[in-house]
Amino acid sequence: MPKTHVPVLAGELVEALDPRPGDVAVDCTLGAGGHARLIAERIGPAGTLVGIDRDPLAEEAFAALAAEVPCATRFLRADFDSGLETLHDEGREADLVYLDLGMSSMQVDTRERGFSYAYDAPLDMRMDPAQELSAAELLNTWDRRRIARVLREYGEERYADRIAAEVERRRPLRTTFELVDAITAAIPAPSRFAGGHPAKRTFQAIRVAVNDELAQLDAALPLAWDLLRPGGRIAAISFHSLEDRRVKRFLADRARGCICPPDLPVCACGRTPEAELVARGGVVATPGEVAANPRSKSARLRAARKLREEP
Ligand SMILES: C[S@@+](CC[C@H](N)C(=O)[O-])C[C@H]1O[C@@H](n2cnc3c(N)ncnc32)[C@H](O)[C@@H]1O
Repeated sequence: MPKTHVPVLAGELVEALDPRPGDVAVDCTLGAGGHARLIAERIGPAGTLVGIDRDPLAEEAFAALAAEVPCATRFLRADFDSGLETLHDEGREADLVYLDLGMSSMQVDTRERGFSYAYDAPLDMRMDPAQELSAAELLNTWDRRRIARVLREYGEERYADRIAAEVERRRPLRTTFELVDAITAAIPAPSRFAGGHPAKRTFQAIRVAVNDELAQLDAALPLAWDLLRPGGRIAAISFHSLEDRRVKRFLADRARGCICPPDLPVCACGRTPEAELVARGGVVATPGEVAANPRSKSARLRAARKLREEP
């Protein structure tokens, strides 16, 4: 049985979003609904919670949640960028929009979905099981150089070329353990366990590519921002530097005022900040949370408030 997902930085997320009775909140990554429940309690009977997720497991979790929380609820089974687009097209606005990126424990621990290098399973890794591209398809059909680029860019894998070559040599790969064997064989013995499990970076990279995670995030952030009413808040919890860098840059761009060269005596750009950062530098889990929930170790929360004045 998959474990229940324990939401990370839950108190910190609620504090950053500061939900008020009657708010409209959009949870772009509903998962097991752990964060959503906390937000729903705060927005109360006058509030509305919209949950988005592309995984049918989240749709099941939503059904239970909707029956228990005090607010109005709605679920959109979609990629978060298209879910946000739907809300735009309908002319909706929100007071709170948040994303808790990556996988849920339910996904990792459902062995047959192939997200984990700890279980032997078919090479799948799709968050949306109806999607065409799976890990098997990627590993068995993509060009070796393209696979190496994925491993380098999304996994920061030092032995990307060697692993991609080994994958190509062993085709067709069918299971997670076949992939783990290929990775282990490709990494020189002294480096194999240097940075944790040798398959960790490759599995992350393949998952990011299969689910198009970074492009989705790049598309979703401006959509989420546009959906916010002035005074509304956005928050995102990232689990690796590739995600966090995007969130950080996006929020910093909106919080920046004048962009004139420093030697210009008066401002010529007329630009004023659209956002105020809620927790400069981001928020990470306390040692207590990391001890209780190791998944929180790499989590970083960033948040911002949309200023009332339009630029
Ligand atoms: C870390 S879990 C969220 C857990 C949730 N906050 C909770 O407390 O239970 C991430 C969820 O986001 C979903 N997800 C990730 N990327 C997505 C995307 N681009 N579009 C839609 N859902 C996505 C995953 O399917 C997963 O259920």
